[in-house]
Amino acid sequence: MRVALLIVLGLAIGIIGTVFTMRALDERNPLPHAVMVTMGFHRHQLEQAVKGQRCDATANIEQLQHMQMIAGDIPAAFPDAPQAFQDLASHLRSALQTAAQSAPVDCPALVSALKPVDQVCKECHQQYR
Ligand code: HEC
Repeated sequence: MRVALLIVLGLAIGIIGTVFTMRALDERNPLPHAVMVTMGFHRHQLEQAVKGQRCDATANIEQLQHMQMIAGDIPAAFPDAPQAFQDLASHLRSALQTAAQSAPVDCPALVSALKPVDQVCKECHQQYR
């Protein structure tokens, strides 16, 4: 009798545990990932422009401004990250602002405007990704 009770109890605990784990997985915040995927999308667009030698001045600025706005979402998307991470996020924002303000008119200008930006992406990914 006691053994049967223990088995039932064990099963119940197992089921409750599974339900809690599945809920926790469901609730994993998709925002941080989404912010980075979108950032990657715009970076990729610029990469494609350089590869195809189609670096339109207006399109360049638009992509860079998008990235600057997305960088502004990083602190809210990663609220639990340490201060050093938030500092990198703000470096990224200013690097993107500088890049957008430099208004790259052609591919070589775009490539050099992106260098300091890529540097910040890399620095943060090496430490926190
Ligand atoms: C302040 C830190 C930080 C900066 C700066 C940063 N990232 Fe990230 N990035 C992360 C973290 C953390 C992850 C992992 C997030 C996750 O997958 O939940 C990540 C993941 C990514 C991913 C992978 C997404 C996937 O599909 O798994 C891409 C693409 C990406 N970042 C692009 C960029 C680009 C492009 C830049 C620069 C313009 C950049 N990131 C700058 C922190 C940063």
